[in-house]
Amino acid sequence: MNCLADSIFSCFKNQPEFTLKSAYEQYSDKPKETVRARIYDNLGVKFERVAKGLYRTIQGEETCVVIEGDGRDLSMFKDKSIDCILTDHPWLDLKSNKGGDRAFAEYECFEYTLKDFEEKSRILKDGCFLVEILPAENENNYKYLYKIKEYAEKAGLFYYAKVTWKKGDFVSNTGRKAKNSQDVMFFSKGKARNMRLDVKKTQKLGYDCYMSGTLKMLPTMFDIPPVSKKDKIHQSELPLTLCEEILRYITYQGEIVLDSFAGSGVVGEAALNLKRNCILIEIAKENIKKIQKRFSENINFREDLAFL
Ligand SMILES: C[S@@+](CC[C@H](N)C(=O)[O-])C[C@H]1O[C@@H](n2cnc3c(N)ncnc32)[C@H](O)[C@@H]1O
Repeated sequence: MNCLADSIFSCFKNQPEFTLKSAYEQYSDKPKETVRARIYDNLGVKFERVAKGLYRTIQGEETCVVIEGDGRDLSMFKDKSIDCILTDHPWLDLKSNKGGDRAFAEYECFEYTLKDFEEKSRILKDGCFLVEILPAENENNYKYLYKIKEYAEKAGLFYYAKVTWKKGDFVSNTGRKAKNSQDVMFFSKGKARNMRLDVKKTQKLGYDCYMSGTLKMLPTMFDIPPVSKKDKIHQSELPLTLCEEILRYITYQGEIVLDSFAGSGVVGEAALNLKRNCILIEIAKENIKKIQKRFSENINFREDLAFL
């Protein structure tokens, strides 16, 4: 069944993009509908839609590059070279972290500035997503959380959606209110790219049509337990399943995901599990060691960034 798809893939794999028209010409012995159907069947697997009638092949051999350095300095990346940024920045919130047996963050913290968002926007491809994992809003951080959205907007990153991450049933009772959630903020670089199947148009025209938005409609919440204390290798480690779930909504196979504040490197593992490439940046040597341990056998360290 997939021989024709494989053949189309081989035919166009060395070209940056190809048009439907060129695929019809190349396979003029086959009905146009068949050629088109084989491309559509393999969207997100072998092919990616770039624009109307324009496609590119998704290349295999996913890689994770780990960089020990400052994730706020993105000058090494070219404009529009990254397909997704998923990160949990080390937000500075000493007031909220006080009380009970909560420990202060054991790593370097800072507050974002407009420049951070201008750089994220510069390196993201048009229509692609930036996802920031943020603390739940409270009396100490609400102004900062608002500022983040303002910076993003000024940098050309549109507010797409905010989804609560409910961290299972455990409830922390420090502060004024029971806490067990964080926010997952989705921004798109300009208008979100066309990932969502347009069901009505597809039914009307008889072939798959796509509209602006994530691959599927985002859920009301991600209900995923946090990493248990005994399994944690980093104080703020995100669950692997949460990272995988997020990446499934906003990326295709073979794309490049960046986590510029990598911590334990879980975003890299999620990306590789889903056949996405990943670049991890982490400032602390002890965390780089943790990332190396996480990947000890299945990571391909690369000295160069040539694929960007
Ligand atoms: C909130 S944690 C990220 C946790 C990560 N998402 C995980 O699931 O393991 C933030 C990380 O950013 C790192 N960090 C702090 N400042 C940094 C900087 N300027 N550049 C890169 N990493 C930085 C900290 O060492 C810490 O490991």
